[in-house]
Parts: sequence; structure tokens; C-alpha cells
Amino acid sequence: MKAYSLWVWLLALGLSTSGCGDDKVAEPSNPEFNLPSGFLWGVALAGFQAEMGCPTLAPQICEDRASDWYQWVSDPDLIADDSAFVTGEPLSNSPGFRELYAADLARLKGELHGTAVRVSIEWSRLFPDAAAEDAATVDALAALAVPSEVAYYRALFAEARRLGLEPVVTLNHYTLPLWLHDGKACHADLDACTDRGWLDRPRMTKALRLYAGFCGRAFGDLVDTWATLNEPLATVLAGYLLPSADRSHPPGVMLRLEEALAVLFNQIYGHAAMVDGLRAEDRVDANRDGKATYVGTVVNLAAFEAADPTAENAADAVRHASWLHNEVFVEGVANGRLDLNIDGVLDPPSDELVGRLDWLGVNYYTRLPVSGLPSPLLDGYPWLDFLPETGEGLFLTFPEGLYDVLMLANRFGLPIIVTENGMVNPTADAGEAFLKPHLRSIARALADGVPVEGYFYWTLVDNYEWNHGMSLPFGLYALDPTTKARSLRPVGEAFGTIGKDRGF
Ligand code: FCB
Repeated sequence: MKAYSLWVWLLALGLSTSGCGDDKVAEPSNPEFNLPSGFLWGVALAGFQAEMGCPTLAPQICEDRASDWYQWVSDPDLIADDSAFVTGEPLSNSPGFRELYAADLARLKGELHGTAVRVSIEWSRLFPDAAAEDAATVDALAALAVPSEVAYYRALFAEARRLGLEPVVTLNHYTLPLWLHDGKACHADLDACTDRGWLDRPRMTKALRLYAGFCGRAFGDLVDTWATLNEPLATVLAGYLLPSADRSHPPGVMLRLEEALAVLFNQIYGHAAMVDGLRAEDRVDANRDGKATYVGTVVNLAAFEAADPTAENAADAVRHASWLHNEVFVEGVANGRLDLNIDGVLDPPSDELVGRLDWLGVNYYTRLPVSGLPSPLLDGYPWLDFLPETGEGLFLTFPEGLYDVLMLANRFGLPIIVTENGMVNPTADAGEAFLKPHLRSIARALADGVPVEGYFYWTLVDNYEWNHGMSLPFGLYALDPTTKARSLRPVGEAFGTIGKDRGF
């Protein structure tokens, strides 16, 4: 009896000491994963995918009709064209974030316990008209910006801040203004089209530098953390190499290898141009907390594996695929070094490119089997000797692979943010079966010293999945496309609980 009361007394003392004995905020202590202090915990969205489909806003305001992607998914000729692989789903079925952003951010804060949100600025919303290309300075460009769209983005970022959500803002999540890229004309005839998007490096870099400069000036007081591009390799693969029902991007042309490589390298130059534009205009003294402009880029890294490990060229196929898909672009933006003939040998750093990356964003979805080819796809490119085997589906869940790609990304010596990770058709047990295993990989990488600064789930609410339309639901919330009602899925509950407990 005596021993029992002593134990109760000690316990009570212990509890009262940890409850209010000192001023230290109790650090969460979870058995498997504690979100480090300052860790960004949020969801990722892209403007094109989430903004349209407003319940009451007039379509001419809600819909951004001036982008290559708007044309790609809504032009009747392209919808009828089997080689474009678009569904024809109306964009009005999208979640309407352009109108409903405040309620969505409140969900992220209140129900999901987020601390950050990744969104994109749609270039073509701000500058729908070709006149923007004549601007030679940021001042001249600013005079052409659509005031209601500038106001929308300012309101979006300010509302995020007000709620305590750090905005991470992508300047270019695939979409280009039509005046720079006519995907329909280039799909019909890549050699004859005149507005050639990423194929036209001088036009792109000039326009991107000014656009990024404008964004730095117009939004830099509200945004500290920027990303330039999203998944440059998706643009290369689905735009110029292997467009398919799995993924097709404008211009959706098949096996245009020279052009695909040009687009890969032009995006490296485009990244550098955006960083230069942003740094010139995004004044540090206007930033929150006086923080310097923090600019990264977002790549999709896949966990490559041999489709047939017993094949003679299996190891080479994996090495070449990983180099080309996971590393060549990052070498360019992180170290300023190019491998123009993609043979694994880098040129010396270029002044035009070096020193232009503060952090690296990693999107991770899948393992990716590849098989070797008996001979290269293009003469002069010996490492172009493999093909992806996506027969099993586009997204092959493999949480351990996130650890592997984080270790690979860590080779570049930069802070890393997991800018996307998510599951199509999330199952009822996705919290246990998908989310937690991926977070365990992050915990492992952190324990091994990899500076992972955040995790963004793709995505908040079911959205317009590029050429698939609404047929690939990814949301923590399910969307009713008619009423625009959002309902929390079990995986969303799991995400919210982890956010609330700061780990699991
Ligand atoms: C990524 C894209 C993102 C979304 C997810 C499912 O490749 O960055 O916009 O489509 O896939």
C-alpha cells in the first residue's frame, strides 16, 4: 500500500513537472517520426489543375483560357485526335480553387494541421496577351499584367500567411502562355510551328527572366520560398518522346529525340533565367523575417530497377535511366554542369548556370522498371539504350524508394523538400499502407543526415490530372464535381492526425 502511494506521488510530481514546471514547449515524442521544428507539412497544388471549375465566378474570370494546356485539353480537334491522348473532360469539373481558396486553406490549417502550402502561379493568367512578349523590362511588363489576377494571387498568398501557412510558390508548373507555345500547331507539324515553347531558348529565357522578375516584385513581400519549374523530365518525356494515355503533354510528339534533348537543356537555362529575374527583383528587405529569396526547383525522381534483372544489359539500363532521368537536369541547375551528349561525362561548370539553386524539390511517386535495348535509340547517344516498362501501371507504390532517391538527391549538397508524394485512388488504409511508410523513409533519411525540410502531399482535393481529366483522384479530400463539395478521405484523416501530433 505504501509503495503504491509513493508511486502515485512520484507520478503526480512527474506529471506536474512536465506539465508546467518550466517554460519549455514540450517537444512531441512519437515513437517513429517526429516532424522536426520548422518542418513544412502541407499539400501541393498546381493552378491549372485546381483553379478552374468555380461554382459562381464567371467562367471568363475563373477559366484561364490563354495557356497551351487549356488548348491541349479543350480544343475539339485535339480531343478527336487519338495521338494527343486527351479525354475531353470539361475543365468546369475542376475543384474551383480560384474561388474557393480561402475555405480550402482553412481546411488545410484546421483539419489537416498543415504549416505550408505549395501552389503555382499561372503565367497565362497574369499575361494572357502576346503583347507581353514585347516588354523589354519588368516595368514595361508590369504595365501589362491583368490587375484582377495580380490581386487574386496576392490575396491567396496573404490568406495563407494569415493562417500560418508558408507559401511555396512554383513559377512554372508546366503551363505556358499560348503566345509562347502553340501546342496544337506543334503537334501537327513540329518543324513548321512558329511558337515552339521550350524549343526556342532565346524567346523562353528572355520571357521567363522578366516573368519571374515581375513575380518577385509583385509577390515577393508575401513569398519567400520559390520553385522555378515542375518536373522538367515530364515535359521532355510526355511532350517529345513517349506521349501516351499514361501522360501526354503538349506538343505530344513521338520520339523526337533531338528536340527532347534540346527541351531538357533549355529548361536548365530557363531555370537560371528565372532565378536571375527573381533575385534581381525580390528584395530581401521586403521578405518576411528579412529572409533571403529561397529559390529551388522541383524534379520527379523515380526509383529505377531492372525489368528483368537477369538480362545481360540490366545494370547499364538502370544506370543510364537514372542518370538521364534523375541526375542530368539536377547537375545542370545545382552545379551548372551539362552533359550535352548524355554519356555520363559532364562539361565544366558554366558561369551562366552555376550558383543558381538554394534547395531541391523532390517529387516521388514510383519505382520504375526499365529494360535495356540492343542498340541506342539515336546515333551518337550510347546511353540512350533503355526504355521504361510502364505496363504494370503508372504509379508503382514503393515507399522504400523514397529513401533511395533522397540519398541520391543529397549528393548535390542542398536542402531538400519533398514537394509531392501521393496515391491515386487512395485506399481506406492509405494512412498506414502509403503515408506512414513514405514518412518512415524520410525519418530514415533525416537520421542519416539528409536535410529534408518538408513534405507536401499531392494533393488537397481531387483535381484535373492533365490529359486524364478528373479520372485520377489523388485528393486528401474527394470532390463532388457538381456541387464542389469536398469530403475528407481516410487518408486525409491520417494526414491530419500526424500533423496534429507532429509525427506518429
Ligand atoms: C506529378 C505532377 C502533378 C500531378 C502528379 C500526380 O507528375 O507534378 O502536377 O499531376 O504528378
